[in-house]
This record gives sequence, structure tokens and C-alpha cells, in this order.
Amino acid sequence: MAEPLGDLTRTHTCGGLRADDVGAEVVLLGWVHRVRDLGGVTFIDIRDRAGVSQVVVRENEALATVAKKLRSEFVVGVSGVVQRRSPETINTKLATGEVEVLAREIRILNEAKTPPFQIAEDSPVSEDVRLKYRYLDLRRTRLQHHIGLRHRVTMAVRRYFDANGFWEIETPILAKSTPEGARDFLVPSRIHAGEFYALPQSPQIFKQILMISGMDRYFQIVRCFRDEDQRADRQLEFTQIDVEMSFARPESVYGVIEPLMQQVFKEIGHEVRPPIRRMPYSEAIARYGSDKPDLRFGLEIRDLSDVFRNAEFRVFKDIIAGGGVVRGFAVPGGNKYSRSQIDVLVDQAKQMGFTGLIWVRPGEPPLSSVKALTEGTLRAALAGASAANEDLLLMAAGPAEGTSKLLGQLRLAIAKKENLLDPEKFEFLWVTEFPLLEYHEEDGRWYAMHHPFTAPLDADIEKLESDPGVVRAKAYDLVLNGSEIGGGSVRIHDAALQSRMFKRLGISDEEAKERFGFFLEALEYGTPPHGGIALGVDRIVAILAGESSIREVIAFPKTANAVDLMAGAPSPVDAKQLRELHLKIQN
Ligand code: AMO
Repeated sequence: MAEPLGDLTRTHTCGGLRADDVGAEVVLLGWVHRVRDLGGVTFIDIRDRAGVSQVVVRENEALATVAKKLRSEFVVGVSGVVQRRSPETINTKLATGEVEVLAREIRILNEAKTPPFQIAEDSPVSEDVRLKYRYLDLRRTRLQHHIGLRHRVTMAVRRYFDANGFWEIETPILAKSTPEGARDFLVPSRIHAGEFYALPQSPQIFKQILMISGMDRYFQIVRCFRDEDQRADRQLEFTQIDVEMSFARPESVYGVIEPLMQQVFKEIGHEVRPPIRRMPYSEAIARYGSDKPDLRFGLEIRDLSDVFRNAEFRVFKDIIAGGGVVRGFAVPGGNKYSRSQIDVLVDQAKQMGFTGLIWVRPGEPPLSSVKALTEGTLRAALAGASAANEDLLLMAAGPAEGTSKLLGQLRLAIAKKENLLDPEKFEFLWVTEFPLLEYHEEDGRWYAMHHPFTAPLDADIEKLESDPGVVRAKAYDLVLNGSEIGGGSVRIHDAALQSRMFKRLGISDEEAKERFGFFLEALEYGTPPHGGIALGVDRIVAILAGESSIREVIAFPKTANAVDLMAGAPSPVDAKQLRELHLKIQN
């Protein structure tokens, strides 16, 4: 029963009518949002991307018959005259709420099956159903807003980089494997039997080559692919704002990215005030137990080793003598926790991997879970952690980094429980001077913490062979509210140092040549010092939208199980396709 669009031409969007339009002849095109039949009068809300308008059918039998056929999500064209609503029907919550359209014609352009969930209401629906019917989910106000916000963010990014002399340059999607630490997605070549392209985990090598090519300042809003476990903030394919600059120091990159963040956050009316704080990795770990600390709240970790170095408690004394630490933090207002609440906390800590979580309650005298500690020691520990009388001190002992990281997890869990994660606050931080390398016991070798093209700090280069664990990198992450929204570095631009780095990573000359020979060769043809960063668009937009999962800001995301429930990907392919690609499936 679908009627043709014919000569119906939209004059206004469904969100665009205002009191000024009273008396105008208009045509609206959209979806039936709701229908209310009040006997003599029928109200039809029509919706499009811009909003909702009320259409009224009154004293018109022919139209009333059409209106009776309307169901939610039918597609309609309505022509009529804008009129002021009667005072009692004005809807102040709606931008179009002062007016309505008195219908003269309603054309049913298409019918719709009853949707599996309400489009007009943001009622809870299981995520699997939402993803299967993503086209319907995307019609709902919340996702329409998020997708619009994402568009505004990427447009602001493009305007910013254009104004600052960056060129957007596309790099290949069918590429050669670049090591970023995750697994590659491979694409079999039909023409070259047994050979594969890799989808880029990032355009890292290409953007560096663009610097060698004299492109000077590059950016790209680019899809990246990583075959890794899915989480709330991870998808198999995601979008980066990828940036590279010639003759750059870390500060040059901060100087470009901070005003960019200013522009982007303007989209939600938030003012970012550069400079963004900077903190070396070692300090972030020591004070917050994380390389992406959430600075919206305190709960800062303090080192209490000096208090316990010579104290009576043998266990702590031995740990400190063995090079370990005692660290802890004060939970504001934690003194009010009951014993059973504290027991729950201790259990939770055990599940996180704490061998022991020790608590101290201020008071006269202070109390602790360790009876062996004297009043003097307890008071010194409380003072060391700046714990007030209303607070509760939590402590753990062990190797420095591991102990801080566990306390960091607990810090976050307590902040969540105490509602300290203020959604209105945006706390940015540059975490700088990451370690260049990390040792993997199971493989018995060093890995690049960022990627193998990251430059060491000049002062640390000499320790690359003798003491690799202490070498710091010219690498930085941009952290927002405890989420890593970007990461980058100044790169190695010297071919000899790049070879040394590969050697350090246990990559033989032969293997390096095989995998990145083209790049090592390019480095030898006049490579400028350069550096850059990549920002995660999905993560940034999710934070701007107040969502905890990036799936809410991606039009067609995959599930946590890596499946596209709407299209049904991945899927088997037919035997002919496999043959052409020289592939055989092993069962
Ligand atoms: P990195 O691997 O740190 O750096 O990635 C940069 C940013 O991309 C985002 N991100 C992701 N977002 C969603 N899903 C994922 N699976 C995912 N993985 C990463 C994060 C991260 O901070 N080539 C380097 C950049 C450089 O050195 O210039 C790189 O890709 O927000």
C-alpha cells in the first residue's frame, strides 16, 4: 500500500518548526513516532533526524480514515498548515512544542512491521536485539545524537588540522604487517598464491615514510584493525586520528594536540584549558598505581616504607630489606565502614591478587588488622598517608611496581563504590617517559612497550644494551578520566639506532630485512627527526557522549564476541571463493 513520493517536497525538518512558522504551508517527511486517537481528533507525532513534530487531524473524515491505518514506524509525508497549539497542549520539552501542523494530506510512503522494541522510548532492550536490528536502534534519539556528535567531532578535527597546515593523506588498507603488539587480520592474495596482505593495525610505518617523503605534517582519520579480545573500549576495527610531524619534540606534539582537544570539547560546551598536566610514567605508577590514572578524585598512594623499615612487624621489615615497599592510601570517610564492609573489601583485594591488605582505623587508640603493630607505628603510618580521623588507611607490601598497581586497582574500585567518578569532570593528563622496553618472562625476551620505532631518551641510549629495563622512551599517552585516549612518540630517525633497537628486541638482521627492509632502507635516504600520535576517536566520542562502551558511538559495532549480529559476519564462504584464494579449511 506504499504510495509514491510524487511531488511531496520537504519544506522543514520535523525538528525545525517554531512559533514564527505559524500560518506557513509545510511538508514534513518522516516516521510515525506515536499516534493518539482521541475520538474526534487524532494526534500523530512525526519524527526525522532533526526531531519530532505534532500533526493533528481534525474534522476531516477522509484523513481520519488514513490516520487510522497509521502504525509506529510507517513512513509518511504530511502537508498542512502550521498553527499555534492551544495553551494546555504546549509541550515545553519539545523544541517544536509550541506549534502543530493541521494536516491537509497524509501520504503513506511505506508501511513497517511492528518493531521488536519501541523506537519512541529509550526503554532497556538487550544489546543483542539492539545490534541485530541496528537500523532500528539507530533511529532512537540517543544513538542519533551520538552519531551526530561523532560527525561534529570528526569535522572539527578536519577543520583544525587543515587550518594548521596538516595534509590528510590516505594510506593502504591492504598493507604489510606492522608490529603493534596485537594479531593481524590477514587477507589472502588471489593473484599471489600463498601470500597475504595484512590489514593495518595502524598506519605507523606509512606515516613515518610520509615524513621521509617530505610531507612535513600529516593527519588521517583512519580505520585500524587489531585481532584482539574485545572489551568495552576495544573493537576489532576502530578509528584513529593519526598524526605525524617532522622536526618534532614531544612538546611539539603536545602543542598541536592540546588546542585540538579544546576544539573537540567545545562540541559539548566544555572548556579545556591548556597546558594539560604532565606526569612521568614512574610517578603515575607510584602515586596512582596506573599508567592511566583517573585524576577526578584523590586517594593518592603514599610510600610508607620508612615507617616500617625498623618497625616491629617482621613481615614488612623483611619485604623492605629485600628491596620491596609498603604503600597505602587513605579512603576519605572510610572510618565509618563496618567490620563486615571492611571484610568485603579485603576479600575483593584478594581476588585482585593482593596477598594481604592491611587496614588501620584512626582512633584512640588506632586499630589495625595486624595486631603486632604498636600504637606509635600505626600513628606514624596514618600521618604518613595524611589520613584524617574519618578516614581508613589501606596498605600492602611487596615489590614496588606490583604493589602500586594492585593499590591502583583497589583505588579505582573504591572510587566507583563511593561515586567519585564525576561524569561532569574532564581530567586530562599526559603520561610521559614510558619505559622503552618490557621483559616477558614467558618468552625470555624484551618487547617494545609502545612499538619498535619509538626513540629512547637521549640520556638513556647508552644503557640500551647494558641495562635495558631502565631506558626511558620519548613516548607519551594522553589520558582522560582514567582512559587512554591517545598514544604516540618521537621516532627513531637514525637507521643505525633502529637496527640496534631491532637487535635489542631479538629480531635478527635477516628477519628485520624480511619484515621492514623497505623501511630500514628508506631511513637511509635523509630522514628528518619526526614524531606523532594517534588518538582513539571511538573512546573520545564515548567519553563526550557519557557512554561507558564505545559500541554506543559506532554505527555498526561488533559484539563482545567479535560478531556483526546484523549482517552475520564472520560467515563461511563458498568453495569456489576458497579455491580462488588457494585456501583449504582444516577441520
Ligand atoms: P596505540 O596502539 O596506542 O598507538 O593506539 C592509539 C589509540 O588508539 C586507540 N585504540 C583503540 N580504540 C578502540 N579499539 C581498539 N582495539 C584500540 N586500540 C587502540 C586508543 C589508543 O590510545 N601507531 C601508534 C600511534 C603512534 O605512535 O603515533 C598507535 O597505534 O585510544
